Amino acid sequence: MVTSLSELAQRKQSGRKLAVLTAYDYPTARLLDEAGVDLILVGDSLGMVVLGLPDTTGVTMADMLHHTRAVRRGVKRAPVIADLPFHSYDTPEEAVKNSRLLVEAGADAVKLEGGRSKIGQVRAIIAAGIPFVGHIGMLPQSVREEGGYKKKGRTEEGAAVLLDDARALDEAGACAVVLESIVPDVAARITAEVSMSTIGIGAGSRCDGQVLVTPDLLGSFPWFRPPFAKARADVAGETLRAVREWAVEVRGA
Ligand code: KIV
Repeated sequence: MVTSLSELAQRKQSGRKLAVLTAYDYPTARLLDEAGVDLILVGDSLGMVVLGLPDTTGVTMADMLHHTRAVRRGVKRAPVIADLPFHSYDTPEEAVKNSRLLVEAGADAVKLEGGRSKIGQVRAIIAAGIPFVGHIGMLPQSVREEGGYKKKGRTEEGAAVLLDDARALDEAGACAVVLESIVPDVAARITAEVSMSTIGIGAGSRCDGQVLVTPDLLGSFPWFRPPFAKARADVAGETLRAVREWAVEVRGA
């Protein structure tokens, strides 16, 4: 189990995979920590799976601070990573200011979406002494510009862009990077080349770890689940059953 981000480099060397999950509230964060998850991400997937928004672009800094504080209260051991939401890092100055707020709310590291195109922001965050996690491949905050969620790295050119993004983040000093919806061979090439830990989601098994949106794992958000996420519980089904059973008992029918 990881207890500090400084262990990530050694963990990569050891070949033991990282198990990473998202949390947005105190009880889930506490359970994930007690279950021994390596890293906990307060993801801006919060927008869809907690706030009922259509995508992540409506998530605000106020939302992220509120939920990061709740997660922090529940976690004793696992490092907590918090997402910088859409338009909170348009300039390096904004990126540093908002990263500091997330750290004050309890984050051990911050994450933003983008590689080479955001390197000014990434360098500024790291220069401010804030541990940083990258996110490349399919970028949910760009879903509107891109017209949907698309797999990345299908062409040689696309793969070269991803490798260049990964190298830029690695050289800047990121401790880890999320590889989202990337062709598995390309994710494996990136993993072999960089010294930061790669954490895949929809990017095949040859990454240094895997991350899932916890409601996808628990079956607590039954209206949408990505094809690569296998639900290992049926929390939605159990909730419906318990509520209906209780209501019948209360009504005496
Ligand atoms: O917001 C999020 O939950 C994420 C994961 C999908 C990696 O960024």
